[in-house]
Amino acid sequence: MSARTITVGVARERPCTLVVCRGCCCGNARKHPGTDHAGQLERLRAAATAHGFQVRTTDCLGPCDRADVVVVQPSAAGRRAGGRATWVGFVLDDAGAEEIARWAAAGGPGLAEPPPALRLQFIDPPRDARARSRRRP
Ligand code: FES
Repeated sequence: MSARTITVGVARERPCTLVVCRGCCCGNARKHPGTDHAGQLERLRAAATAHGFQVRTTDCLGPCDRADVVVVQPSAAGRRAGGRATWVGFVLDDAGAEEIARWAAAGGPGLAEPPPALRLQFIDPPRDARARSRRRP
């Protein structure tokens, strides 16, 4: 049997996924007043339903000083095309969230170019996240 990796079923067709941090700082109205955190998440979920990508929330991802953090994970097709998880920080206004949704709707990493303004919010993942992503095939 060859050592080739074969991807089947759900993983083969996995859509672009937004991992929205909702830990101790991200989404916290006491730490970041003036942002409609719940409304932002609702709009991302509505866009996901309309355009075929996914949204899930997670506990603290690490870079709290860059809250709110969203990781844009490539679809299976996007990963095959070279796309990698992209970390976006300071997602505290509607414009940032809308640009993330627009990018995911267009295909996300590997399949579509990110909006230029969104690039300014790209952040480096924490060291342990980089190590985890290198271990993935
Ligand atoms: S709570 Fe989001 S990075 Fe810590």
